[in-house]
Amino acid sequence: MGPIGIFDSGYGGLTILNDIRKKLPEYDYLYLGDNARAPYGTRSFEVVYEFTLQAVNELFNRGCELVIVACNTASAKALRTIQQEDLVKIDAQKRVLGVIRPSSEIIGQYTQSNHIGILATQGTVDSESYLIEINKFSPQCDVYQQACPMWVPLIENNEQDTKAGREFIKKDIEALLAMNKRIDTILLGCTHYPVIKEYIESVVPENVEIIAQGNIVANSLADYLLRHPLMNSQCTKNGTVHFLTTENAEEFNKNASNYFGEKVYSEHIRF
Ligand code: DGL
Repeated sequence: MGPIGIFDSGYGGLTILNDIRKKLPEYDYLYLGDNARAPYGTRSFEVVYEFTLQAVNELFNRGCELVIVACNTASAKALRTIQQEDLVKIDAQKRVLGVIRPSSEIIGQYTQSNHIGILATQGTVDSESYLIEINKFSPQCDVYQQACPMWVPLIENNEQDTKAGREFIKKDIEALLAMNKRIDTILLGCTHYPVIKEYIESVVPENVEIIAQGNIVANSLADYLLRHPLMNSQCTKNGTVHFLTTENAEEFNKNASNYFGEKVYSEHIRF
């Protein structure tokens, strides 16, 4: 038995953990941010897979039975291989879930025009995971993607509100909207982006709805635990949350509260 593991390349997964904890406060959580090696967005498939597998193994070794890969880039590039090839070798009872599938299942319910925009990292866009997954659940929808390679570095360095930062962000939003005037729903397909949701909302026309993934992933996890009572019984429930980072712990603590909304005390780990 153990906590639910939450993994992200950096701070972004904290936005997901935040919503998961609101929905499921009784569970224990162990967060791992690979901040020292973030961003993952422009890294190759092989490297993202290797880093993600290391992180998942670390969380398993610390007692997690269930791990949520709260990173779209890692979900796009590593999740399927880990689920299909690695889990059987590691421990067939353990589970790893991602964030792309639950978001794709539900995003079609938000749009009136059947035109959906995705803002994500270069890696997530190139994987075409959202195009493939949304087409399975909402084949009537047209999906448009814009890669935002500068956003994660800006946010990880807390430069998203600078004049230059905002210009980069605005340029990518405008590029997405220019792909089709009928886009009325934009999914933030990167767990870092909720930090700038308000700014994004201020840039888009009023009829365009901006959707963050936190609630979607939290609802999907609650549903999963309900449907899997054995896994649910393996998840400890004392309402605790612990943080691991590959960065300097003080540095992580200083920045993490911007994403998590409360003071964070982390432990430094090395792979
Ligand atoms: N939060 C990660 C995601 O959802 C950011 C990836 C990165 O490190 O570039 O894709």
